[in-house]
Amino acid sequence: PASREFLAAMPKAELHMHIDGALSPAMMFELAQRNQVSLPYQSIADIEAAYQFTHLQSFLDLLYLGASVLKHEQDFYDVTRDYFTHCHADNIRHTELSFDPQTHTERGIPFATVIGGILRAMADAQRDWGISSALTMDFLRHLSAASAMKALEQSLPWKAQIKAVGLDSSEVGHPPGKFTAVFARARAEGYRIVAHAGEEGPPAYIWEAIHELQVERIDHGVRADEDPQLMQYLRDTQIPLTVCPLSNIRLCVFERMEEHNLIQLMDAGLRVMVNSDDPTYFGGYLNDNFFALADAFGLTRRQALQLAHNSFTASFISDEEKHRHI
Ligand code: HPA
Ligand code: ZN
Repeated sequence: PASREFLAAMPKAELHMHIDGALSPAMMFELAQRNQVSLPYQSIADIEAAYQFTHLQSFLDLLYLGASVLKHEQDFYDVTRDYFTHCHADNIRHTELSFDPQTHTERGIPFATVIGGILRAMADAQRDWGISSALTMDFLRHLSAASAMKALEQSLPWKAQIKAVGLDSSEVGHPPGKFTAVFARARAEGYRIVAHAGEEGPPAYIWEAIHELQVERIDHGVRADEDPQLMQYLRDTQIPLTVCPLSNIRLCVFERMEEHNLIQLMDAGLRVMVNSDDPTYFGGYLNDNFFALADAFGLTRRQALQLAHNSFTASFISDEEKHRHI
C-alpha cells in the first residue's frame, strides 16, 4: 500500500472544488464580524457543530448561509487564497475551481466583485507557487433557466478568464435538460462543458448531461454503476468522472468509505480521479481524501498514481502543458 508520505508527495491536479465550499468556520466567523452579517452561531465551535449533514440539501442550506458573509472583492480573494495555501501544502500543481455567481449576484453582490477576487488569488498562486488554475462557472440548478442565462450573459466580458460552465446545487427534480438552451449558448460562446450528475440523481441524469448538455466531464457520477450500458459508454468514451470520496460519505451517498465505489469504477476502466468538492465542509482537502481511501482500501502505489495521472489527463490544460506534468 501507498504510505501517507507517498500520497502527500505525489503531484496532483484537482478538478472539482467549489470556492464557497472552501470557506472555513474560522474565516466565516471572522468575515461575519468584519462585514456585520448576523449568523445563527455564537462561536467557531457552534459553526463546526452545525456540520452534520443527512443529504445534499441539508449541506446546501448551510453552504448558502455561510456564503452570505462574502461581500467584498477582498473576501473572495481571502477564501480563494486560503484554498491555494492548501493546494501548495498538498502538492496540487493544477486546479480547476468553480464558483457560483448566482449565490452572490442574487443578493446584490456584483459579478465583477466575485470574479475579481478569485482571479487575483489565481494569479498570485501562479506567481508564488507555480500552481496553474482554471475557472468554471456553475449555474445553480434550483433556480430557473432564465436566471442561468442571465448569469451566462453577465460572464461574457470575462470569457477569456472562464474555461468552462457547469451545473450544481439541488440535483433531484432539476435534471440537466432544464438547461439545454443555456448550455447550447455557452458552447457557442466557446466555453467547455461540465455538469454535476449522478451524485444523488439517477443514471438518467448522467445520460441527459451527455446528450442534452454535451458535457466533456461529469462531476460525481458515482451512480453510473446502476446502469451497465452507461458504464460501457463511459469506459468507451473515457468521459471523466470527478469523484469526491469524503463528500459522498458526509452527504450519505455511501454510508462508509469501505462501501464507496471509486475503486470499482477505476477497475471497470473509467477515467476517475479524487477531488475534495467542498473541503472545509466535508472534513478534508485533497490529501485527506487520498488518506481516507488508503485507510479504507489499502490503496496501492499503482492505484494512487493512476488516480493522479487521470487528474491531469482529464483536466482542460493543453496537451503540451499535460506533458509537463505527466
Ligand atoms: N453538489 C451539488 N451542489 C454543490 C456541491 C455538490 O457536490 N458542492 C457545492 N454545491
Ligand atoms: Zn460539487
